[in-house]
Amino acid sequence: MPPMATVATATVRPARRVRGRLYPAGDKSVSHRYALLAALADGRSTIRRYSGGADCAATLACLDRLGATVERRPAAGLPTPGSDLDVWVTGRGLRGLAAPAVPLDAGNSGSSLRMLAGVLAAHPFAATLVGDRSLSRRPMRRVIEPLTRMGARIQASDDHPPLTVIGGDLHGIEYAPDVPSAQVKSAVLLAGLQASGRTRVIEPARTRDHTERALQAFGATVHTRPREVEIDGGQRLAALELFVPGDLSSAAFWAVAAAALPGSDLEIEQVGLNPTRSALLDVLERAGAIVDRDVRSSEGGEPRGTARIRHGSLKALVIGPEEVPELIDELPALAALATFGGELTVTGAAELRVKESDRISALADGLRALGGDVDELPDGFHVRGARRLRGGLADSAGDHRLAMAFAIAALGADGPSSIAGAEAVDVSYPGFFATLETVCEPRGGR
Ligand code: S3P
Repeated sequence: MPPMATVATATVRPARRVRGRLYPAGDKSVSHRYALLAALADGRSTIRRYSGGADCAATLACLDRLGATVERRPAAGLPTPGSDLDVWVTGRGLRGLAAPAVPLDAGNSGSSLRMLAGVLAAHPFAATLVGDRSLSRRPMRRVIEPLTRMGARIQASDDHPPLTVIGGDLHGIEYAPDVPSAQVKSAVLLAGLQASGRTRVIEPARTRDHTERALQAFGATVHTRPREVEIDGGQRLAALELFVPGDLSSAAFWAVAAAALPGSDLEIEQVGLNPTRSALLDVLERAGAIVDRDVRSSEGGEPRGTARIRHGSLKALVIGPEEVPELIDELPALAALATFGGELTVTGAAELRVKESDRISALADGLRALGGDVDELPDGFHVRGARRLRGGLADSAGDHRLAMAFAIAALGADGPSSIAGAEAVDVSYPGFFATLETVCEPRGGR
């Protein structure tokens, strides 16, 4: 297959089963945080297995423009070739970044833009954060409000990017966001690290805690209680060497394929098994799959190890508002699973409408285009999988997770399918289609 950057439409053929062992791409969420904290640390940090996706590249490019020297090379010592990088970031210390000469481009990445807003809020200069068309439509009030309360000035038209952050001396606040969002929590904590006094975030529901764990790895003291985190400002960070775990949200697509196709048996190695990220594995068990997980180590405070997924007969799943925050990125993959003879009802997931696409309507459109039976709900969706997909042309709507979800659903169709906008996978998982070729046994046998 030619490089994805030049391929807009990918063809996916039906598969009999998936088997083997694979190493997913480096974790996107963890990569962003390690780079941002390395830029605020004193000294030169090494980040191994940094995500090679476009989102994490955007964070590095912005940090480069802010004066934190970034060097990168293809990751050494990967068990299989991949897109991950080894990255070296020379930090500038707390509040030590330099005013950028040009706007900072976060591309498609909400994590980059929102977390950088938190970093910049404490720097005494104006910096403008821009994004692509999709990111320019995403809501930013959720970071503007707390960072303004801490003392930053932020200009935005109608609460959307571009965002001009005019930073300065910040003071700690207590903040209780109304949406559960790890990006918002992280932006406030990154500002709080550089503020005077104590900052506390009280979450409406538990979200991924990578920032808290990364801050501790860099030597900061963070106080955590269930749904609550506190940090004292002014703590210096010390450069270190870190290893990013494999991304469970990328591995989710393979886990779902293994759960869906009879006779499948897949081992996913060196994957992040942080309990705030691994709800998908519990849900797959509930759906009937056989799931074994084995935590082997915990570098940088991030547990990681092997997840083995085998097919079992599929049961109907219901996912309600209380489960959504910890599954938010895996809902498209779970929708694909339901098309293999299962059923899935999701409610309380209106946040999906403000992701890289309107992930409720674009998901429903794409699965229907493949022959799926899907109802769109205001805050979720309902997939009935009794009828096998026939195959067709599904449009990713420029959304990486939808491109991958449609590719996995297409494995169970009667005939081949096409995924338009397949290059979107490069945002988080540049090797996705190459890995698809290696783990799938085509229908008709090998
Ligand atoms: C992320 C948090 C989630 C998630 C996104 C990555 C992070 O977004 O959907 O892909 O790295 O903190 P929200 O914070 O908007 O829920």
